[in-house]
Parts: sequence; C-alpha cells; structure tokens
Amino acid sequence: MSDLAARLRALPSFPDDMPELDPGAAPEDPAELLLSWLEDAIAAGVRQPHAMTFQTLGADGGPVGRTLILKDLDQRGLHVSTHRTSRKGEQLAADPRAAMTFFWRESGRQVQIGGTVHALEEETSRADWLARPTSDGRPNPDWQVYALQPERYEFLQARHDRRHRRLGYRREGGSWTHAEVTTPAG
Ligand SMILES: Cc1cc2nc3c(=O)[nH]c(=O)nc-3n(C[C@H](O)[C@H](O)[C@H](O)COP(=O)(O)O)c2cc1C
Repeated sequence: MSDLAARLRALPSFPDDMPELDPGAAPEDPAELLLSWLEDAIAAGVRQPHAMTFQTLGADGGPVGRTLILKDLDQRGLHVSTHRTSRKGEQLAADPRAAMTFFWRESGRQVQIGGTVHALEEETSRADWLARPTSDGRPNPDWQVYALQPERYEFLQARHDRRHRRLGYRREGGSWTHAEVTTPAG
C-alpha cells in the first residue's frame, strides 16, 4: 500500500451520530424526503447544503460533472441556473438528460436524482439573475434557469457497519413507486 493509500485509509469517515433511514416510513413523494433532508442540513448549519454535483453528457457521450447550487424545487422540478452558452448549457441543449448528487457528510446522507432538464421561461431566469448578490440591476439574456424533472431518486443513509440503507424511487406515469435497494453498496 502506498503512503498516500495508507493515509487516506486512516482518515475519519462517518460522524459518530447519524440518523436512521426507515424505508417503511418513506413518503410517497420523493421530493418530500429530499426537502426534509435538505431542511435537516440547513438546520444543522451545514455550509452550502444546497450545493450538489450536476452531471451532464458531453458531445462524446461521456459524463461531465461540476458543482451547482440548487435554486428552488417546485412542480416544474429542481431548479439550477447558469449561462446558456456555458459548456453545460450547450450540453443540455444537445442532450437534456442530467443527474444531481447531493452529499451531506455531517449526516452521512447522499441523494442521487436523474431525469430530463428543460429551460424555464424568461421571467424566472431574469428574476434569478437580478437576485444574485453581484447584480448591477441589468438583465443578462444569457442567464437561464433550468428545471430537472426527476425520473428516479436514490436516497442513502450511511451506517457505521457499512450496511448503508438505500431507498430508490421511480416515476411511472404520473406517480412514484419506491423500494429498498439491496444491490451491493460501499
Ligand atoms: C460551490 C459551488 C457552486 C457553484 N454554483 C454554480 C451555479 O449555481 N451555477 C453555475 O453556472 N456555476 C456554478 N459553479 C461553477 C461550476 O461548478 C462550473 O465550474 C461552471 O459553471 C462552468 O461549468 P461548465 O464549464 O461545465 O459549464 C459553482 C461552483 C462551486 C464550487
């Protein structure tokens, strides 16, 4: 084992106290569970609890990830905002499939969300741009709010014995089904 590998292995991992995930008590709507975990992270004082890895597909079909901020969540989906002419903006125009991965290390929680992104109307993008702390009051026509309409969610609650509990949701037509995920995990 290299020195780096040994040092990485010795790093502390999960916090001492972690919540439990009870799949039997899961809400029908995964957005409800996402919001409740986000609220827990906000209440715990976690820095940037609304930051997540946002994955798109590049022109060669390969995955591309970067950190983005969740701006809102409503019936249109999970909102993010960026420049339409950015790499991710171009990638979304070519292929609207995308994924988000939230990780709250203070509670050992992860949420993966996959679906299709669509651009929201101009008024939403304009309001978001003008609300940025660096706004000089002038609109930016390149700024775009996108909404990810989720098709699948997977919630993970880590455990010290590494038997992490995972709950998967899938959208079928207009409603959601959920089940515990039992494939091997960390
Ligand atoms: C914590 C954090 C939050 C970020 N939030 C955003 C964001 O909400 N929108 C955005 O366009 N870029 C955001 N960025 C920058 C992106 O990660 C990325 O570098 C940039 O958008 C260019 O990505 P692209 O070349 O893949 O289009 C954030 C970076 C960090 C570290």
